[in-house]
Amino acid sequence: MALKIISVVGARPNFIKIAAICDAINESNKVLSSETIEHVLVHTGQHYDVSMSDAFFRDLELPKPDVFLEVGSASHSVQTARIMERFEQVLLRENPNCVLVVGDVNSTVGCALAVKKTSCTDPNDNSEYIPALAHVEAGLRSFDRAMPEEINRIVTDCLSDVLFTTEESANRNLLREGIAKEKIHFVGNVMIDTLLRHRVKAEKSTILRDFQLLRNGVAMPFAVLTLHRPANVDDQETFARLLQALGEIARRIPIIFPAHPRTLKRIRDSQFAEYFVDERLSGRELSQSTARIRLVPALGYLDFLCLMSHANVVLTDSGGIQEETTILQVPCITLRENTERPVTIEQGTNVLAGSDPSSIIRAFTGMFQKGINSHQRPEYWDGNAARRIVTTLLQSSLPGKSNPRTSWAGEAIAEPGQR
Ligand code: UD1
Repeated sequence: MALKIISVVGARPNFIKIAAICDAINESNKVLSSETIEHVLVHTGQHYDVSMSDAFFRDLELPKPDVFLEVGSASHSVQTARIMERFEQVLLRENPNCVLVVGDVNSTVGCALAVKKTSCTDPNDNSEYIPALAHVEAGLRSFDRAMPEEINRIVTDCLSDVLFTTEESANRNLLREGIAKEKIHFVGNVMIDTLLRHRVKAEKSTILRDFQLLRNGVAMPFAVLTLHRPANVDDQETFARLLQALGEIARRIPIIFPAHPRTLKRIRDSQFAEYFVDERLSGRELSQSTARIRLVPALGYLDFLCLMSHANVVLTDSGGIQEETTILQVPCITLRENTERPVTIEQGTNVLAGSDPSSIIRAFTGMFQKGINSHQRPEYWDGNAARRIVTTLLQSSLPGKSNPRTSWAGEAIAEPGQR
């Protein structure tokens, strides 16, 4: 009997996570002809630039979305409301058994809210039901409610019927918040599934040559920087402190900075041009200063993976990059006061440096000299997380057409070593 699943993507990190799930669904449909999954891919349009969206669909060979909601950019409330309004129509039309949301962006919470407020209709008997909501990457907590993502995580988790977790801290957080153990499934990390699958292909990228980072065919020392969080780039004082440290580091090692559109806007509107050489403008420089960060276009998945793999150190305020560098064994300096991914700190690949210039420079000096000594990887970060997710969903009774139940009940958290 067919199971109908809607998967939602909206922003850049979602595409990477859903790629693994699309692959696992295709694989399952090939193997199990009796239990096929009808998969509907919905793109909210939260990210819409070619560099933020299309490049990822191409690199990850994602299918063209079945539905495109075109919500675009707006304030958080307006963006979330638009997503809810447009996604409700999709639910009413498609009548899925389950909606799968990933991560912590506005598309995640907007669609989660719509699912739990919409009655779908079983065409067989016209009975009404609420679809099951599955959250991939559930339970992560920074304990900083000033972060929009933290609000999105908490709301999505408390609405979800099945919660797929990436690390032990997430299991503990969910249990502490009163989520029933039966709903929590410790499956591993779909972002790492995608990384492991594309690592070899990424090595064919010409990005090191394009950025003139090769000397005699070998990568020279360089750092990669990503920065886009509102707390870092919208606040001029914090941005200035970060740039003071980054400018100092740029005197020691080239820093390659593929910039998010939000950050580019902030740089243009600010007095900070002296820190950058703008390579997006065919080598034209923004200023004549000597300590400069190389501003390059936002990159596609394969180019960025190649760049990150060969970097001596990565400086970032992204969540996913803290995880990717853990698997790549590249030292990561997180330009935030907290992380919702503590396993990356425990592994020794990531340090929290905040925005204090001396603390960032100290972290850089330590990481650059010492490198990484740990060769373990976090539990279940083994390339099979998406397969575990699909298997769990197939083995479950879901509300709607094929299994007329009104609530979803999963299995207990898998204890380490049980799988
Ligand atoms: C969003 C996520 C963040 C995630 C990030 C990954 C939320 C609350 N935040 O942040 O968790 O780490 O994506 O990139 O969902 N813009 C463009 N083109 C685009 C998309 C955005 O120019 O394709 C500009 C717009 O001016 C927009 C701004 O970037 O206002 C911010 O975009 P938005 O989607 O609101 O949040 P992100 O900062 O991208």
